[in-house]
Amino acid sequence: MRIKRICDSVNVFGRIETDRLDEEDVDETIDYHLSNEIRDKCRELVLDNDKLRKIMEIFLDNVHRGLKRETHADSIVKCFPTYVQDLPNGTETGKFLALDLGGTNFRVLLIELSGEHFEMKSKIFAIPQHIMLGSGEQLFDHIAECLAIFVKEEQVADQRLPLGFTFSFPLAQKGLTKGILERWTKGFNCSNVVGNDVVQMLNEAIDRRGDVQIQVCAILNDTTGTLMSCAWKNHNTRIGLIVGTGSNACYVERQENAEMWDDVDMGSGKVSINLEWGAFGDDGALDFVRCEYDEDVDKNSINPGKQKHEKMISGMYMGELVRLALERFTKEGLLFGGKGSDMLFERGRFYTKYVSEIESDPPGVFNNLREICEELGLKHASEQDYINIRYICECISRRSAHLVSAGLATLLNKIGEKKVTIGIDGSVYRFHPHFHNLMMEKIKELCDPSIEFDLMLSEDGSGRGAALVAAVAARLYNQNSRT
Ligand code: BGC
Repeated sequence: MRIKRICDSVNVFGRIETDRLDEEDVDETIDYHLSNEIRDKCRELVLDNDKLRKIMEIFLDNVHRGLKRETHADSIVKCFPTYVQDLPNGTETGKFLALDLGGTNFRVLLIELSGEHFEMKSKIFAIPQHIMLGSGEQLFDHIAECLAIFVKEEQVADQRLPLGFTFSFPLAQKGLTKGILERWTKGFNCSNVVGNDVVQMLNEAIDRRGDVQIQVCAILNDTTGTLMSCAWKNHNTRIGLIVGTGSNACYVERQENAEMWDDVDMGSGKVSINLEWGAFGDDGALDFVRCEYDEDVDKNSINPGKQKHEKMISGMYMGELVRLALERFTKEGLLFGGKGSDMLFERGRFYTKYVSEIESDPPGVFNNLREICEELGLKHASEQDYINIRYICECISRRSAHLVSAGLATLLNKIGEKKVTIGIDGSVYRFHPHFHNLMMEKIKELCDPSIEFDLMLSEDGSGRGAALVAAVAARLYNQNSRT
């Protein structure tokens, strides 16, 4: 009964999903049923606007360093020019192939563009872990094999179709079809690829087989694909964002500011910049907001010391951050009467999707959480534990949304246009029930008030975007060869 009453008061409060963590609201509404110790111990996870503004300042400085020729080599946020100079204008037509490598799955796509329409067929292939951690040659042979299976099934094996390759790792691009891998991220760590041109490696693997013909027209990052696929529909799109397994953003910059860009100007005066913001903080710049869970996640990852910003934000790490907090609080006797379970104490066993599921229950309702606790051998969890666990999830997911918002507000201010659409993809943004609202609210607080922005879910940026980049490249090429 007591719980029900409290829940009612929370519900009446209405804005619970978006500002539950505002200090005053917490004090007025949930203070007396969230345990005080948990609230105190979670304070380090709450980033107030002063901290976020400080982060924005450092981030902007990092972006400038990445853009400038003089400082680029030592910069942490790489700001790689993508050689994508123009956004789609709706006149792109034809059949294109696309490859999408970078999350948990690998996809091959066949896309037909005509005017405002597009048709798409795709097939998902698993990448077994021994390949994710094997040799580069094995990885590209696997990709080429999947491509061969697909083009045969779709009966286009005899055509030499243009192909866009979405390769979602930090690439130093040397042109639209040449990209040198700077480092692996997320779950990948294949040998003999860092320092090499991945387009060449793909072409070599295709040649080794000899049964497929393609023409790689473009290699791109998933953020670029997302930007392109949204720009196709909404011409104000200037930023592409991914909050999925990993996190990163790209944005449209003026060519004169992108000092590392050295191509022929095709006339737009713009170039899309792949920020690789996941690496932000690798020099310690974010240490003032990182805490013991971040340290732990980093130390136990396959790339310690790298991608520290990404590790505070993205889906590959979010569940584990929550689990580490739950483990600590259990050992301190603050949760589950001090009695955990083997699964709770097992690394990687608290999935990021749990965070979305827990926060999808209306405030005060714990149906999903109850099931998750049962799944984790925590049948003895009490209502008080549920309230505390939900709060911990909220702290971690809000921190992620707020860090993303600080990055986006910095970019909006930098771009300086009055109306900007941000194209977004990724499992965290798609499936977390409050991520969008949290971002809307926080960006509004942090960016120049005269800027109007909206957040648009990208429809398959990595697939469709790859085809669009290939198509725009083909259009620009044709235009320029005519003039
Ligand atoms: C990669 C980026 C990518 C992001 C989202 C990061 O780990 O470094 O290139 O855009 O993940 O997939």
